[in-house]
Amino acid sequence: MTASLKPMPAAPLSDMPATAQTTPRFSATFDPHTISEIQRAAATGIYDIRGGGAKRKLPHFDDLLFLGASISRYPLEGYREKCGTDIVLGARFARKPIHLKIPITIAGMSFGALSGPAKEALGRGATIVGTSTTTGDGGMTPEERGHSQTLVYQYLPSRYGMNPDDLRKADAIEIVIGQGAKPGGGGMLLGQKISPRVARMRNLPEGIDQRSACRHPDWTGPDDLEIKIEELREITDWEKPIYVKVGASRPYYDTALAVKSGADVVVLDGMQGGTAATQEVFIENVGLPILAAIRPAVQALQDLGMHRKVQLIVSGGIRTGADVAKALALGADAVAIGTAALIALGDNDPRLEAEYAKLGTTAGAYDDWHEGRDPAGITTQDPELAARLDPVKAGRRLANYLSVLALETQTIARACGKSHVHNLEPEDLVALTVEAAAMARVPLAGTNWIPGSAGF
Ligand SMILES: Cc1cc2nc3c(=O)[nH]c(=O)nc-3n(C[C@H](O)[C@H](O)[C@H](O)COP(=O)(O)O)c2cc1C
Repeated sequence: MTASLKPMPAAPLSDMPATAQTTPRFSATFDPHTISEIQRAAATGIYDIRGGGAKRKLPHFDDLLFLGASISRYPLEGYREKCGTDIVLGARFARKPIHLKIPITIAGMSFGALSGPAKEALGRGATIVGTSTTTGDGGMTPEERGHSQTLVYQYLPSRYGMNPDDLRKADAIEIVIGQGAKPGGGGMLLGQKISPRVARMRNLPEGIDQRSACRHPDWTGPDDLEIKIEELREITDWEKPIYVKVGASRPYYDTALAVKSGADVVVLDGMQGGTAATQEVFIENVGLPILAAIRPAVQALQDLGMHRKVQLIVSGGIRTGADVAKALALGADAVAIGTAALIALGDNDPRLEAEYAKLGTTAGAYDDWHEGRDPAGITTQDPELAARLDPVKAGRRLANYLSVLALETQTIARACGKSHVHNLEPEDLVALTVEAAAMARVPLAGTNWIPGSAGF
């Protein structure tokens, strides 16, 4: 052995400056965000409220892959062979079911949470591509009705803005039991956003924080819900499809009970789903990721002989055509998007970085939607900020984005040999993690192993 290969003798500890002995280590439990939240709570005595959905990493569609066709499956040629994307919603009982060109809908977001121009832009964008948009807590605005070819009217626990005439003006009615971001919780709209118009529509005083109910005052369970659904059908002459929206918590039973109560369509919203505002502790700790909720809901529909007869719309963190295709392959009939639609309109645009910085945040992380100071003019009631959003241009951006989602979904469906996106099936999928395999009930990649039991 040559001298140069001898191990270097360790330097005596006493020769090292004290600061050089260790590099600072953050705790996984008390990470910088947790520490700053404890410090913020200690300084202010108030809990954090924000918009958006869960930010921590959760099992999601990214944990699934499509297998695609090869010798044992035959793919379809992109430019020559058709792959349908249309969908009919609500044919179970409604005399006028909804026909959409693409299985991607715009989720309910309230006027109040969103500005008038933002609501108009959602209607415009959805109409260009032949899909529906949805009202929200706070009622129907004339701009939204006027620019939405197909508009779903939400009937919420708060009953803010609830108007029987608007029920008749809608194309479908969505009874909201809960949201994925806050199953079991009610809405929040802080005083900053209760403008004179919002106050008038909700029959509330201006400028005072509003908390809406977490449950409907008219029923306590599925039997009363059945009566309410019949009442709504009578008011609308049995024309309009009735949707029931639930936050994902016990999807097998909730879907079965919604069907038993007479729903035409079930809307299932997972915990990544956005909200306009609620407590951070709620957003991050209550509910199920949508990946874990779809199969139990589909199972409930299958057990009742209602799969594809009562349609299932799922939402919560849908971003790409791959997400849409995966949701459909797991058995959903359509998806709904909220956050991604707002981003398409111009939310969190890096060109507004200087203004986000003034609000103490950055483009891509801005979620203080409840404060009403959105520089993009979307989640605000400030007339000057709201006027920044051009509803025509923003509507076109949304339409472009929705077209891309539909094209991406078709691309994947064709690669799996399907002539309609609804022919995608669990057999087309594998999972990258044991958790995702158990939740989505598809095999772990490279195996034929589906972990977990078949019961719910
Ligand atoms: C700004 C905003 C406002 C919302 N307002 C309502 C509402 O009034 N009623 C409701 O049922 N859901 C509301 N939601 C939830 C959406 O309908 C939908 O469930 C959710 O956004 C879907 O998840 P995604 O945002 O990840 O696409 C809102 C969501 C956002 C982002």
